[in-house]
Amino acid sequence: MPNIIPTSIDSCIKVHTPEMLPPLLDSVVSHLIHNKSQDLFELTTQYGSPLNLVWPHAFELNSAALLGVLNQYKVDHAIFYGAKANKSQCLLEAASNSGIGVDVSSIHELRAALRAGVPAQRLCATGPAKTTEFHQALVEGGSLICVDSLEEFSHLNTLLEALPGAVKPRILLRYRPSSCPSSRFGMGADDLLECLQILTRERDKFHFEGLHFHLGGYGFESRAQAFREVTAFITAAREMGLNPSMIDIGGGLPMRYVEPQRYSNFLQNDNVASHYYNGCVPGSYYPYGSSLTACQWLTLFLEAEHSPGQTIANYLKLNNITLALEPGRSLVDQAAISVFRVTRTKQIAENKTVIFIEGSSFSACETWFSSEYLVDPILISTEHSPHKPMQAYIAGHSCLDDDVITHRLINFNCTPNAGDLLVYANTAGYQMDLLENEFHRHPLPQRIKATCCTEGNYAFSPDY
Ligand SMILES: Cc1ncc(COP(=O)(O)O)c(C=O)c1O
Repeated sequence: MPNIIPTSIDSCIKVHTPEMLPPLLDSVVSHLIHNKSQDLFELTTQYGSPLNLVWPHAFELNSAALLGVLNQYKVDHAIFYGAKANKSQCLLEAASNSGIGVDVSSIHELRAALRAGVPAQRLCATGPAKTTEFHQALVEGGSLICVDSLEEFSHLNTLLEALPGAVKPRILLRYRPSSCPSSRFGMGADDLLECLQILTRERDKFHFEGLHFHLGGYGFESRAQAFREVTAFITAAREMGLNPSMIDIGGGLPMRYVEPQRYSNFLQNDNVASHYYNGCVPGSYYPYGSSLTACQWLTLFLEAEHSPGQTIANYLKLNNITLALEPGRSLVDQAAISVFRVTRTKQIAENKTVIFIEGSSFSACETWFSSEYLVDPILISTEHSPHKPMQAYIAGHSCLDDDVITHRLINFNCTPNAGDLLVYANTAGYQMDLLENEFHRHPLPQRIKATCCTEGNYAFSPDY
């Protein structure tokens, strides 16, 4: 699409902060949006729409904050960034710069993490579907392997026989907590005990380092309960003469996209069928206005009771256990924004308007999960935009009626015009690039690494 923005437009650009569900913004990101929005027009002209701006500084702040809590409680710890949350290489580099490890779920994530400078020994591999090639790279690099099942354990054993030299895999066993008995991930008590029995016979073959679990949802209480369950297996393993030294509680730390009070007001008062162009209120959402930050969550987890009179933090210290965490989404809090250029606004019926943007819902994926991203986009308009308040839903170039960026009707205090920008904030966690593809042969959205330089200026470079 031609760039209709005049080159000296600073004076006629207007940033419209939404009123219903305004995004919380990191100060560096906010400064760009509010004071340097000309940069956003220039970047979309150069790199196309949608465009993902990725902010490694936010990642580094998030990991420093979590490390701060762990240090405050003086527990031995290991953080592995859940690399599945986002495909940006510069966020893996941020993990490397922060001195933390990476949780990898494929040979491809493993290679990307190594390329970012994360040492192989600081990688932890999760997921039940590891391939032989992946296992081999993990074993040879000395990475941690979360063994998901007896079947995986046996495959690993077979692989070892074929490997030259005496390489000893470092393993954690993945436990299936009692709260999710039918999950396809991890092992129930019987299989876990069988693995421990095998390990007592195969001491010279494996470094057994401990136990792992990952749960859906975002409550710290469910993790505390699973933690209590898993410590019974630590005791059992030690009684069997094994020496486990780590409990890895997976990810699921919450992150906050909008103010909690505003979010709960919205859910209680405004989230009604008439606010959706299709008249349907989705059944569930990510908790966008989480009452807890990731650091508060971690604090509550460490202070939760392990046994009468003993907190989880105390248990860890008394038993010389390292607490491992695999946060994905919460480490990329504020680490990307996605910028969509408006193509046109179309009135379908008297009270039904759609805004078309360049891009598709594959670059903002919640409607594909029958849910919605309950964070309003920021409109950056030019003088060309009529100052007329309106409501609209937002769609891209997809060809199905229901394939939209948002079914929800967004309030605008000024009608978006062709060439204006819609900025979706905080899209790094599973939002911006989980489902991206080249539908209609539209090129994949570019990832641009954004850094703040001196005096409020920014540097941008493609993220490979
Ligand atoms: C094993 C494991 N660890 C960590 C994560 C990251 O979870 P989150 O992004 O919610 O922190 C996931 C996500 O599915 C996972 O499956």
